[in-house]
Amino acid sequence: MNSTYEAPSRLIKTPDEIEKMRVAGRLAAEVLDMIKPHIQPGVSTLELDTICHDYIVNVQNAIPACLGYGAAPGRPAFQHTICTSVNHVVCHGIPSADKILKKGDILNIDVTVIKDGYHGDTNMMYIVGGETSILANRLCHVAQEAMYRGIEAVKPGAYIGDVGAVIQKYVESERFSVVREYCGHGIGTVFHDEPQVLHYGTKNTGMRLEAGMTFTIEPMVNAGVWQTKTLGDKWTVVTKDHKLSAQYEHTILVTPTGAEILTARPEEDLSRFN
Ligand code: MF3
Ligand code: CO
Ligand code: CO
Repeated sequence: MNSTYEAPSRLIKTPDEIEKMRVAGRLAAEVLDMIKPHIQPGVSTLELDTICHDYIVNVQNAIPACLGYGAAPGRPAFQHTICTSVNHVVCHGIPSADKILKKGDILNIDVTVIKDGYHGDTNMMYIVGGETSILANRLCHVAQEAMYRGIEAVKPGAYIGDVGAVIQKYVESERFSVVREYCGHGIGTVFHDEPQVLHYGTKNTGMRLEAGMTFTIEPMVNAGVWQTKTLGDKWTVVTKDHKLSAQYEHTILVTPTGAEILTARPEEDLSRFN
């Protein structure tokens, strides 16, 4: 019943690989900082995508990992640099010239860059025009706090199930729900690697954490039901009840004492992790 297992050794990064993960993580975080002043009422999500693309390619000399990613039988590859998920869009929103942001929208930008072969993956919420409803504000706050609580559960000897358990407990105590169909993931030279990091579940289950592992924690939190559906474009994921959804994502490294946030931004208050 209480199923736990050891991490395969290929998931344990060497000091050299960890340094490359730090660089990739920093670059991904810098994109989210860079784009912030461009997020204004009247701008299209495609304009934001173009700015991020050009910054990653021309300034960072890095590769946008999502561009051309994820083709599958019956699904085209993703054709953009960032995912732009507005209001009831849960994740994988496709940037579009027709999607014009308006005051009070909540926008998630998810960016993944590849530098020197290693991936950095992070996302955050932006409030368009700086003000939104009390509900939307609280939803964004809870999604971020859920991610932080998940990160706090990370240390050698803990289990991956501990992360999901604390996230689910917290989110449901706030009377919101946790999306089940999408999860965090191991990351390195591979974009979506083992382990799957569920944002719900049971303590003391799953892969045992070891220093040198890198993975994302990226809870999607819904105001209504947790169920989602995918639109006809085969990418855009929306809430089944069309209520709001929010997400935050960091790429983290398991350290000998806890976790290091590889995609930390300068303006984030991370004092609780010191
Ligand atoms: N960045 C997303 C994640 O957090 C994956 C996006 S895949 C894409 O794992 F193809 F939609 F861009
Ligand atoms: Co991710
Ligand atoms: Co991401």
